[in-house]
Order: sequence, then C-alpha cells, then structure tokens
Amino acid sequence: MSPTIDLLLRNVRIVTCADDACTVTPPAFVAIFGGLIAGLGPMTHLDPDAPVLREIDAEGALLTPGLIDCHTHLVHAGHRAREFELRLQGASYEEIARAGGGIVSTVKQTREAVPADLHAQSARRLQALMAHGVTTVEIKSGYGLSLKDELKCLRVARELGLRHPVTVRTTLLAAHALPPEYAGRADDYIAHVAEHIVPEAARLGLADAVDAFCETIGFDLAQTRQVFEAAKRAGLPVKLHAEQLSNMHGAELAAGFGALSADHLEHVDEAGVMAMARAGTVAVLLPGAFYFLRDTHVPPIDLFRRHGVPMAVATDCNPGSSPTTHLPLMMNMACTLFRMTPAEALLGVTRHAARALGLADTHGTVELGKVADLCLWNVDHPAELAYAIGASPLRQRLHGGRDHAL
Ligand code: NIG
Ligand code: FE
Repeated sequence: MSPTIDLLLRNVRIVTCADDACTVTPPAFVAIFGGLIAGLGPMTHLDPDAPVLREIDAEGALLTPGLIDCHTHLVHAGHRAREFELRLQGASYEEIARAGGGIVSTVKQTREAVPADLHAQSARRLQALMAHGVTTVEIKSGYGLSLKDELKCLRVARELGLRHPVTVRTTLLAAHALPPEYAGRADDYIAHVAEHIVPEAARLGLADAVDAFCETIGFDLAQTRQVFEAAKRAGLPVKLHAEQLSNMHGAELAAGFGALSADHLEHVDEAGVMAMARAGTVAVLLPGAFYFLRDTHVPPIDLFRRHGVPMAVATDCNPGSSPTTHLPLMMNMACTLFRMTPAEALLGVTRHAARALGLADTHGTVELGKVADLCLWNVDHPAELAYAIGASPLRQRLHGGRDHAL
C-alpha cells in the first residue's frame, strides 16, 4: 500500500523549470510526502483512491519552484538614503566609498547593533522577500569586518533561517571592504581574514561559502586569491563579486577555483566568460544594483548564452547599491535592462539560482524527489511574472511542503 500523502495539490499548471523553455504542463497534480515531491503527473493519472491527509485545489493556478534569491546582503543595520541623495547630486559610488562612506558606513551601524536589533531589522527584509515568493535565500556577512562582528552577522543569518519558513544559505564576505582600523594595511587585513576569520567561521559551521569583493574599491586579484586559498583549506566553496565596476579578471580567478558563481559581471570579457563556462560557474546578474547605481555597462548576456553559462538573477538586497526585497521586480529588470527573456529570468530565480548555491540536486525545479518548495501564482502565463512591474501575484507559497499565511 502506498504511504498517505501529506498534501495533494490538484489542478495546477506546472512550470517545472527543468526545461529551458519554461513550458507549462496541462492540469496536473503534485503529491507531497515528508517535505519532498513524491509524485506528479497529469490530473487524468491521479489515483482517486490514494490516501491523502490534506489537499488544495489550485483551480488551474500556475505552479513554479519556490523562488531562490542567491545573492543578498540582507543582514545589516540602518540605511544609506543620504548617499542616495549625494549620488543624485552627482557623486559616484566609488567617490563616496573612497571618502569613507559606502560599505564602511553600514559597517559602523552594523557593529553598533546588538544581535536582537540586527535580527529585527533583517527579519523585516526577509519577510518581504518571502512575501514575493522566496523560499531559499543566500545571506552574506560583510558588514562586520572583524572576527567578532562577522560571526555575529552569520549567526543572525542562521537564526533568521531557524525562525522563518525559508531556507538560508550563508556566505562569509569578510573581504568586502577594508575596515577603518586596517586603513593603509589591506594585506594585513586579508591575512587576518585568511588565517582567522575564514577558518573560524568554517569551524563553527556558520558559513556555507566564501565570497570577496574584487574591485578597485575592494580587493585585488592576489588578495582575493589568498581568501580563496583559505576557503579551499577550510573545505568551503567560493563565489565572487567580479567585474562590477571594472574588469579585474576576477571571473577567471573564481573559475580557476571552481566557483559556484561569479556575480555582477557588467565588465567581464569573453575570456572570463569562457573560463566560467569551463568551470560550470553560474553568472549571477544583479539588475537592481545596475539600476540603482545608474550603470550603463550591460553585462554580456549574449556571451553567456553563446558559451552556455547559466544565468541567475538576484536582488543583491543591500543598503548601498540595491535596497530592494522584490525578486520578481528583478526578473522584470533583467528583461528590460539586460534583455534577458522572461523564461531566462524565471530560470534565473529557480534552477540556475539553486546551482549558484550548490543546491541543484535538491532545489530549483518541480521534479520527483526534489524539496517541495513551491509557489502558486495568480497569473496565466509564466512570462507575466517578469512582465508586471513591481506586482505581487503570489497566491500561495510552500516551504518543505508546508504552507504558511502570507
Ligand atoms: O553587491 N559590491 C559590493 N557589495 C554590494 C554593495 C554593498 C554596499 O554598497 O553596501 C553589492 O553591490
Ligand atoms: Fe553583492
């Protein structure tokens, strides 16, 4: 006898995201058992006698994998609205950073915040992401920049995952900016990151990956390499903020370390793209930062297509370059600003985003045996998810087979 199904979804039109075209199935059912997808198929194949604990009739609503936001800095304190005003008056992001503002100003506020306050401020952003369909989110540290404060941020990120129906993957981004106490001593700071912060975060099980900001206002290639070597010694995969403002050839370095992803990539060249293709490194595109910084240098979408580099799309939720918690809006921007197709944008927040987090085997598609992270939408066609500007068509969201009030 087959086991009793925990939850049966009836009359769903599924976009499994297992195929690149994002086709829609005819009316189907999805059976969930133990938090996993235990069965799916056309409604006509549904056994009417199958024992079921609970069922939901979706009335033909569109079902997709739960959305995955694979690049956020959502754990931070305060905001940088004043810098927004300065930039609108003509100051550049780099000028503000070099004048001691930028990332370092959020570091000051984040260091001052006690964990409970940091948790409360970050939980608001997490809940907003979830309300737009996010079931898995990556959260980076990077506003602590000391052993104590980086661990504080990673602990808050883990705690957020325990207290919300969402899967959190943490990334250590201690090499995000130079903390003021190391002014003029970037190599010393990187040595501290490589010798102390990376090993300790790994030892405590607080980081699932390691990231760095390879940029003229961040760290150079040699420094990034040191951080990656430390990650490798600690057994952690790497990701990289690469070629956002200039071409530092970080994408090639990241690919050489088998990076899960290289992110931003506005200035990556063909050699970088080819290195990513060889390594299977995902291109994580962040149209929110592109838009908010009024960037004009579009990432080379055609090169990613031509070389078969999977493209993910994420919010980059952070106070300086992308203060947003709306992943479907990022899908819209990926299409309007980068000319990605709506199907590419959907794969970018599902299957390819899962891969950017090393979760391709368990998340990102609606397939047998995958985790039952699912979204039901009040739309007819999948392209509508990217088409509407800032809409919120989420109807229901399941995390590990469980639904929660929105
Ligand atoms: O991904 N580029 C570096 N890090 C963030 C911005 C951080 C900030 O400005 O606070 C980004 O855009
Ligand atoms: Fe970022």
